Amino acid sequence: MSKESYSDPLPVGVIPDLDYTPKQMRAWVIRKERHGEPTKSFQEEIMPVPECGPNDVLVLVVATGINFNGVWAGLGEPISVLDVHKGDFHIAGSDCSGIVWDVGSNVKSWKKGDEVIIHCGVESEEPHSNMTQSNADFISYDPMVSKQAQIWGYETPNGCFAQFTRVQVQQILKKPKHLSWEDAASYALCYFTAYRMLITKANIQPGEVVLVWGAAGGLGVFALQICKMMGAKAIAVVSSNDKFKMCEELGAVGVINRKDFPNLPYKKNETEEESKLRFKEMKNFGKKIWEILGERKSPNVIFEHPGETTFPTSVFVCERFGRVVICAGTTGYDCMFDVRYLWMLQKDVIGSHFANALECVRANELVHQGLINPVVSEIFNYDEIPKAHQLMYENKHSGKMVCMVQGTKS
Ligand SMILES: NC(=O)c1ccc[n+]([C@@H]2O[C@H](COP(=O)([O-])OP(=O)(O)OC[C@H]3O[C@@H](n4cnc5c(N)ncnc54)[C@H](OP(=O)(O)O)[C@@H]3O)[C@@H](O)[C@H]2O)c1
Repeated sequence: MSKESYSDPLPVGVIPDLDYTPKQMRAWVIRKERHGEPTKSFQEEIMPVPECGPNDVLVLVVATGINFNGVWAGLGEPISVLDVHKGDFHIAGSDCSGIVWDVGSNVKSWKKGDEVIIHCGVESEEPHSNMTQSNADFISYDPMVSKQAQIWGYETPNGCFAQFTRVQVQQILKKPKHLSWEDAASYALCYFTAYRMLITKANIQPGEVVLVWGAAGGLGVFALQICKMMGAKAIAVVSSNDKFKMCEELGAVGVINRKDFPNLPYKKNETEEESKLRFKEMKNFGKKIWEILGERKSPNVIFEHPGETTFPTSVFVCERFGRVVICAGTTGYDCMFDVRYLWMLQKDVIGSHFANALECVRANELVHQGLINPVVSEIFNYDEIPKAHQLMYENKHSGKMVCMVQGTKS
């Protein structure tokens, strides 16, 4: 096709010749005045194609992953991301697969036409600028120590729910050849987050027991696979029996339906009677874990992200000297727990957030080797990006959802 025959913006589902870059692109845009549920907050607009700085790469988005941060960005909760990056628009989208379309003048390791995936860890231009000697020694120059470290497509305004996206060169990773575009688009954010939580932060060991909340969700499907790969025993928690088989296939040694424990969730302002019932239910939940393991053993590690409703149980059921590793508070941030169970039994609570560039590279290598695999539950088209987020908001999905952009379903 000649350049003249392409429209500007391109139609979705079309991959043009590499030498054609339109000036405009289609994008799903969030603005402050329409914060709310995804079907309201995501609106399609025509936006300029971003320009490449010297250390940047422009990528044509072939397929994009759906993540919970798009839901938060749309809701404007707990804060508006537009107040974070101070822009007047926000294009969400924090992982995708695509084709390198242009490279900045300093970029030598990638060229036009390379097939890539993108991770969402934006590094500071001066990564060590706010380090003190003590935290530098402790953290071994983890670039995430920088106050300028950001999540692309959440704390920055140009994510990948658009035909093109611009990223830092270090965000680019090789697309595994054996994966389809949609599988390749699906894993970077959740898998790399689960990798840092379990491998770096909780340092899970062979034979340890790991309790995985939301085990059939985006983070959970990777937590289960990481545990299996490391020789740890994952116990999955889900909210319906339909999800049991999937968790077992991903390596869980047992699965618990949280709905069998109706008094387990912590509620704000609960009465004394409700607290007593919840305490009793936490014990029942602990017994269920013993039943699965066939011995009176508690989980060494708890993989936490629901937050407020589950956190007291996580601290309670965790083994002596165990670790509760947490990266989110989907149900709320005010985590209440009885601290006696923490200090007397010497447990640790560990915060974790996405992953650094080295962890992304190492984790991606395991996908190249086929040791960790994407779990795509549903593939949508570009027009359905708000609908896919709505399903996530309503907890009506499992695994990872993907939307095609310039690619077509394989
Ligand atoms: N800090 C980071 O770097 C980072 C990275 C990725 C994600 N996150 C955050 O982590 C959270 C989860 O992300 P995700 O992609 O895994 O989302 P997801 O695909 O929606 O999965 C979360 C799972 O949590 C479970 N869940 C929902 N409500 C629950 C409750 N009240 N009690 C217990 N479990 C509940 C659901 O499973 P069942 O209903 O089957 O139990 C759901 O499948 C989100 O808040 C996201 O923003 C943070």
